[in-house]
Parts: sequence; structure tokens; C-alpha cells
Amino acid sequence: MSHYDFSKQISRQNTASVKWDRNDIVFGTSDVLPMWVADMDFAPPEEVTAALKDRLEHGIYGYTYVPDTATEAMQAWLSKRHHWNIQPSWVLYSPGVVPTIGMAVQTLTKPGDKVLLQSPVYAPFFSMIEKNNRVVVNSPLSLVNGKYEIDFADFEEKLKEGVKLFLLCNPHNPGGRVWSEEELRKIADLCIQYDCLILSDEIHSDLVFKPNRHIPVASLEENYQDHIVTCVAPSKTFNLAGLQASAIIIPNQSIREAFKETQNRLSINSLNTFGVVGLEAAYRYGEQWLEELLDYLEESTHIAIDYIEKEIPDLTVMKPDGTYLLWIDCRKLGLSDAEIRDKLLKKGKLGLEPGPKYGPGGEGFVRMNIACTRDMLLDGLERLKLAFT
Ligand SMILES: Cc1ncc(COP(=O)(O)O)c(C=O)c1O
Repeated sequence: MSHYDFSKQISRQNTASVKWDRNDIVFGTSDVLPMWVADMDFAPPEEVTAALKDRLEHGIYGYTYVPDTATEAMQAWLSKRHHWNIQPSWVLYSPGVVPTIGMAVQTLTKPGDKVLLQSPVYAPFFSMIEKNNRVVVNSPLSLVNGKYEIDFADFEEKLKEGVKLFLLCNPHNPGGRVWSEEELRKIADLCIQYDCLILSDEIHSDLVFKPNRHIPVASLEENYQDHIVTCVAPSKTFNLAGLQASAIIIPNQSIREAFKETQNRLSINSLNTFGVVGLEAAYRYGEQWLEELLDYLEESTHIAIDYIEKEIPDLTVMKPDGTYLLWIDCRKLGLSDAEIRDKLLKKGKLGLEPGPKYGPGGEGFVRMNIACTRDMLLDGLERLKLAFT
């Protein structure tokens, strides 16, 4: 029997929510239903809220470190959910995965070095490379039978150009692909062959629908661990992005020491008081909630895909292996991206992420965040239909 109720609409207005309180700035109008930035409209597991309340009620919020108990909770989570046995000594903490990507670029490459990614992909992958004066090398994903695949011949050609670091997005945002063991082994083997380190962003790793299974690429072979920095976080999984807590797992000692030096230079090496408490409680007590969330999200995904297939046949949704993000192909409409945006905002009054934000290959697509109540999802789907009919 389910315990959690994901159908309760909780107003997020006036909470300084990026998704709900910035429509004017993001879309130029306050009159849109926001289904864009990747957080959820659900309350986290009640144990997380209880732990935060407990800490809040203590009343003193001085300097805080990350206690071993928090790392142990994360270690147990990774072992149970992803069959990856990490050592606590491998773990560093960071306020976010994007800051970690920036630190990785600074630590593992030099200005002017080449950094590889696979577009379309989460926009900060590009900006963290470019803002740090490194060069983006792109091995675009291929769209094969409605799913993204890696063009390994191209991937290898790009590695031959002397790339120093590869930013892997697993599971993939925006396509929802959970990369298979075979794909991950090929990626890791090629990167090692061409002396390219891997930053594996696994922030979406807990949001995977059965029978798909997330595999931390570093867990596959002992010798992979020396070449891979892995980012994990409770933020997407448990809807705790505002607590700004994430972890960096670096088995290789010299890479870890180099990372620590970067962190020390910036003095970014701990988490805030509530981030620590939220992270530990989520990993310790959040499993039942997550199982129920995944059921809800998977059903929402089916509902959305069915609706779009029947009611808006000119749109095609990429069937995701996980995540709560729908990547919707609008190219049959024959509209420009500006026209798509215009119709969504003016006719549909719906705020989605524009595909071009994710780089080459994103043109003609939009990304819709469906981590909301079913009522809101249906409202969003009706707006989507209205926009394009
Ligand atoms: C692939 C990926 N990495 C990182 C992030 C954000 O990470 P953080 O908020 O920890 O910086 C997101 C958020 O959507 C994401 O999709």
C-alpha cells in the first residue's frame, strides 16, 4: 500500500522558487504554467523534513562539518541501490554538481585544453567548459529509432584530437537514456586508451524505471576508478536542490588531492548545516518514498506519452529510461524554435525548456518537466495541445 500522496498540490509561489516565482524574468510574462527547471513540486520524504525541523529547532546554526554518519548513509545507499562499494575516504563534498564540473575543469585541464561532451546535453556542461577558457569538443548523440545512441566511431575520432576530459551525463539529461553496461564499458575503455579522464555526472541516477538499472561507470572495473570522478547528490532524487548538497567520489588519490587543492583555493569544502542534515536523512530513510515516487513518475510518463500520441500526433516524445523530463520532438510542426516558443507562451501559456539550450541536436525539441501532480500534468498537456492546434 502506498504511504505517500504525490497528488497534493502545494503552492510554491512566494518561496523564491526559481521555477514558480521568476516567470516574468524567464518567460517575459507571469501568466504561464512553469514546467521547465528540473526540480519537483513534491515534498521530500517526511523523515527529511522531520530531521530538518529537529535541527532548526536547536536554534544555533554555526559552522558545520559533514560527519562520518552522513558519508556512511550515502555509502550504504550507493551499495544497496547501485551495487557500488565506495570507501568513505574517496568522498569530497560540494554545494552542487555544476560547481563540481567547474572545479573538475579547473583541476583536470589547463586553459586551452579540449573537453569532450555529447550534445544535446545539460547546458552548464558547455558553459563550465567555455567560462573556464577551455575548448568544447562535441561528439553529438545520434537519434536512432527514437532514442539517443553514441556514435562510437565519432567519439573515438574526437578523443584522438587530444581531449583531456570527457563530461558524461548518465542518466542522460535531456534524453532520459540510462547508458547500458556495454556502452559504459566502451566509453571507459576508449577514454583510458586515449588518456582522457571522465567526469561522470550521475545526479539523475536514482530516478530510473525498472527494468533499467543505473550503473555507476566507475563501479564496472577496478582500473576504471583511477580515471573517473563521479558526482552524486540527493538533490534530484529527493527534491532537495535548495539545500545545495552534493558529493564527489574520487577513488584515485592523486586526483583527489588535486581536487582538494582546488577546493581549498576556493574555500569550498563543506556543506551548509541543513544540507548535511537533509543529505543524511534522505539517504538513510528515503528509500520507500523513492520507490513510491518512481511508480508515480512512471505512470505520469505513460499518461503524458499516451496523451501526446493521441491528441498532438505532430509531437513525438522520446521514451525515457528514467528521469522526470520529457524530451519532445516538435520538428514535424515545421516551426522555428522562436515560433515554438511563441506558441507555447502566447497560445498555450506553458513554460518549457527550449531544445537549443542543450546545444546542437536540440533544435526543434522542447523539454517538459512532469514532476508535478497529475492534475497539473493534465493542465500542462492541455496547454501543450492548445499551443499547437
Ligand atoms: C545533468 C545535471 N547535472 C547537474 C544538475 C544540477 O546540479 P546542481 O544543482 O547540484 O548544481 C542538473 C540539474 O538539472 C542536471 O540535470
